[in-house]
Amino acid sequence: MINRDFLQITDLDAPDLAAILELAIRSIASLGRPLEGRGVALIFEKPSNRTRHSMEMAVVQLGGHPVYTRGEEVGFDVRESVEDISHVMSGYHAMLCARVFDHRVLERMSTSASIPVVNMLSDVAHPLQAVADVLTMKQHFGALAGKTVAYVGDFNNVARSLCQASAMLGMHIRIGCPSGYSASNVDLDQFRTLGAASVNQYDSLETAVKGAHAVHTDTWTSMGQESESKIREAAFIGFEVTEQTMSLAAPGAVFMHCLPAHRGQEVSEQVIDGKSSLIYQQAHNRMHAARAVLAFLLGVRP
Ligand code: CP
Ligand code: NVA
Repeated sequence: MINRDFLQITDLDAPDLAAILELAIRSIASLGRPLEGRGVALIFEKPSNRTRHSMEMAVVQLGGHPVYTRGEEVGFDVRESVEDISHVMSGYHAMLCARVFDHRVLERMSTSASIPVVNMLSDVAHPLQAVADVLTMKQHFGALAGKTVAYVGDFNNVARSLCQASAMLGMHIRIGCPSGYSASNVDLDQFRTLGAASVNQYDSLETAVKGAHAVHTDTWTSMGQESESKIREAAFIGFEVTEQTMSLAAPGAVFMHCLPAHRGQEVSEQVIDGKSSLIYQQAHNRMHAARAVLAFLLGVRP
């Protein structure tokens, strides 16, 4: 294990990720109760449905007690400093988990907390989502090395973490984004270094999904970007995943989305509610992935 915090997928190495995927499919009882009698702080600066519920249940399943607080109640750097909050939380809880607007807040927490810090989504990364995403693909396809994952739309937090995890599992990565919303060369180089079988980026949805076994997309406007939504809707014209798009992917390709989704924008109703869609399995896997990550950070090994 490279880091006891989980701010990005890259806080793990490939064997760590493999161990977490193994823990995720184990029975709850086999993980023991590493949080028995202990608390976990869950602080949300942005709305959440899946992450809050899956994390609260994961904590309960590991024997612990989740304490949820809204970001505005805690008031990072408004009511008190991130450092003071982190020091204080370290005296109450076994872990400090946060969903933040600015990833640097998590980095400051990591420096000042004496307990593991977990990213529940930042502007940069959504690593808990990525563990559920690769778990879902693995359940569907078996070994993922040599399989092709496509991500199309806005190259955002979800995309970055998904590509990092997919790279660590040896997948081919194909990215399709309109110009101005694509992955940087730093990101693309990182995916190569992490072990991707290949990494290619296109400005065409159709080219990006060619031959893909799994096609992922996400909202065009992430939380915190609401003022840009009109500009973004215009920029992403032509990036809706439709049945025609899926017909260009590999035979038997699956559609995936972290949710919340916008039918008729990034994906058509026919695709997201169709036979190739794994969205509910993917959402349910958030809880199994969360339980595995928390257990792993607490020292549980397969
Ligand atoms: N996918 C995801 O993180 O969903 P929530 O924003 O509802 O937690
Ligand atoms: N990219 C989205 C994911 C939501 C789960 C956002 O950050 O709002």
